[in-house]
Amino acid sequence: MSVEATIRRVTAVDIRARKGGAPIVSLTSYHAHTAAIIDPFVDFMLVGDSLGMVMHGMETTIPVTLDMMILQGQAVMRGSKRALVVVDLPFGSYEESPAAAFRSAVRVMKETGCGAVKMEGGRQMAETVRFLVDRGVPVMGHVGLTPQAINTMGGFKVQGRSEASAEAVLADADAIAAAGAFAMVVEGVVEPLARAITERVPIPTIGIGASPACDGQILVLEDMLGLSPRVPKFVKRFGSLAGMIEESVSAYAEAVRDRSFPGEENVYKPKA
Ligand code: KIV
Repeated sequence: MSVEATIRRVTAVDIRARKGGAPIVSLTSYHAHTAAIIDPFVDFMLVGDSLGMVMHGMETTIPVTLDMMILQGQAVMRGSKRALVVVDLPFGSYEESPAAAFRSAVRVMKETGCGAVKMEGGRQMAETVRFLVDRGVPVMGHVGLTPQAINTMGGFKVQGRSEASAEAVLADADAIAAAGAFAMVVEGVVEPLARAITERVPIPTIGIGASPACDGQILVLEDMLGLSPRVPKFVKRFGSLAGMIEESVSAYAEAVRDRSFPGEENVYKPKA
């Protein structure tokens, strides 16, 4: 079998080539089963470090470890077969040096089989992005509101409201694109800034809370399904899973209590 024939998934190069074309669709994913359900509909899925909050009830993404990312990355790779899988590098696993970032990225790629990693940061991470890309690691950038910097940003604050803040994010976006990232998440920025970044950088911008001006969109799956108890203004709930789970579990509890479950059809019988 040729090498080409073994590559069946969307690649980082395919995503890079979508700049300015049909909108790129993406969602976060942390489990095998949901990865299998969303696989036909998305271009890429992100094993985001938001899993710390969504799956583990953490207040921020700061405590998330590389081992947690790898475990869920493996689950998502097992569940999906077509979409590109991008895995977040968590806080503390890449900022120290390009070499440290490379070691973390290599662990993620070898142990999960994913096609790319994502890292937060702008100008200060450009050298690291270049180091990884030159060594065979496709990198997705993440600029604007960068949740891993919550403690220096002072909260989850929309970026680009002042001219100085917009200039800083533009400079970050330029640096990450010039360093060789194949795409970048643009999070929590005002619309004119999202538009300016998208018009300026030669790689696709993937917006979250960044208006329709971006080349694609991403949301946290549990937020758009209506499973998360609180969601930010930029989220649209396309489903109401929390209500469905409540109804189903309440029906189950009642059926167990009134002994209508398990019914005849759920019971194993001895051979006749
Ligand atoms: O961790 C995550 O879910 C993310 C998205 C919000 C882009 O980084």
